[in-house]
Formats: sequence, structure tokens, C-alpha cells
Amino acid sequence: MRVDVLFGVQQVTPLDVQGRVVAVIDVLRASTTIAVALASDARAVLPFESSEEMITRSKHLERGSFLLAGERRMHKIEGFDLGNSPLEYTREGVEGKTVLLTTTNGTKALLAVQGARDVVVASYVNLTAVSAMLRTALRGGHDVTLVCAGQDRQFALEDAACAGRYVYAVSKRLTGVDTNDAAYAASLIDKKFGDNLMRLFNTAAHGRALAAAGFGEDLTVCAAVDSYPVIPVYQDRQITKLGPERER
Ligand code: MLT
Repeated sequence: MRVDVLFGVQQVTPLDVQGRVVAVIDVLRASTTIAVALASDARAVLPFESSEEMITRSKHLERGSFLLAGERRMHKIEGFDLGNSPLEYTREGVEGKTVLLTTTNGTKALLAVQGARDVVVASYVNLTAVSAMLRTALRGGHDVTLVCAGQDRQFALEDAACAGRYVYAVSKRLTGVDTNDAAYAASLIDKKFGDNLMRLFNTAAHGRALAAAGFGEDLTVCAAVDSYPVIPVYQDRQITKLGPERER
């Protein structure tokens, strides 16, 4: 049984994900926003690499059934309905809608893990729910890979710390679990910050950039452990909530 961590989407090779259960982590903010959107009963979230691709796809969808969402340099893309702030994804705003989403790193990371047995979207806001699902997979003999989206192809401290928290939650008290060195390093980072996630975010470059850009409140949402206990599953090019009808 293995739980491995990859620091950045550029490290992902088919072997790292093939047949494995993969969790994609972009704590600030795409993973959190996706969890909030699904908790607010968005019908599904569809990830895209570019806004052009997204607009082409939207032409095949029924008018009024979808929302165009995403950011570049943290800000809402001009003409879109929503940015990437979890605070925008209220029930009034997204219930029953298909959210087409493009973000700088998070949606790219999701698109990079093709070939996995299962793909889930992990963050602090759904830590217990997602780690329980990963733990069940691990106990069932499926290796787990935690992919940190990172920031502009760079290591992101907040994703690594969150991965460390998942390594602990997924493998605690299980014997015979091997991890790679990145998983060990991620665990050390998690221990360093402990439950003080605001200190983590205020230390991380992207957390500081978000605060400076006026998104300080988003950090509070992203730090609220287990506040949106959904399991977002990416399958057939869409992310939906794992529910009784989709139990695996
Ligand atoms: C991303 O996907 O790069 C992020 O979620 C950026 C952001 O904070 O909006």
C-alpha cells in the first residue's frame, strides 16, 4: 500500500496515476471553491484549461443552465459570471447550475491526472470526508497519490501542508503503508503549522498575494476545516458530489 505526494503537476507521469486513486489539492483556491460549489448544490463543475475551450463547450449547453467561472491572476475573467472566490458560490447563485471553471493551476492539475482509477478534489474544507474515502480505497488495496497543484509551476507551501494532513489522516494506524520522501516532507510542513492555518496562509506566497489583492476573507473560508464535507469526484469530464447514488 502506498501514499505518495507529488509537489506540482509537472511531476505527474502516467505511472504515478495509472490505476491509482488520486486527490488533487489546490487549497488556495480552486479545490476549496469546487467543494463549496458542490456543497451549494451546483449540478456539476466542469474543469477547463483555457477560457476559449470553455466558451466553445458552453455553446453546446442549454442557455441558463450553466455559469462561466474562473480567474486569471486571481481576478474574475472579464465577462464571466463568477471568479474563483469560494464566497461567490452561494446556493442562490449556483444551485442546479453547471459551473464551467478555468483557473491558473487547479483545473490544469485536474486535467493532468487522466488514467487514474478515481480522482477526487481535496482541500481543508472537506478533509475528513475525502480522507475517509481515500482511506477506504487504500484499505481496499488501491495506492493513493496526492497531487499538489502548486503555483505557476512552483512549489506551493499551502498545498504541501494540506497534503501532509491527508497523508496522516489516510494512513494513521494502518500498518504496511509506504510513502515517498515528498509525503514525509509534506507531513513535516503540516506539523510545523499544525492547526494554525491562517499562519500557514499568511506565510505562503499565494496566500499573501490573495490578501494583498483583497481576497483576505477567502483565506478564512479556505482554513475552515470540514466546513463543506463533500467528496467531489472527477469522472467523465465533470466533477460531481459523491452521494448515495454514486457510492463506489
Ligand atoms: C489556481 O487554480 O491557480 C488558483 O485557484 C488561483 C486562485 O487563487 O484563484
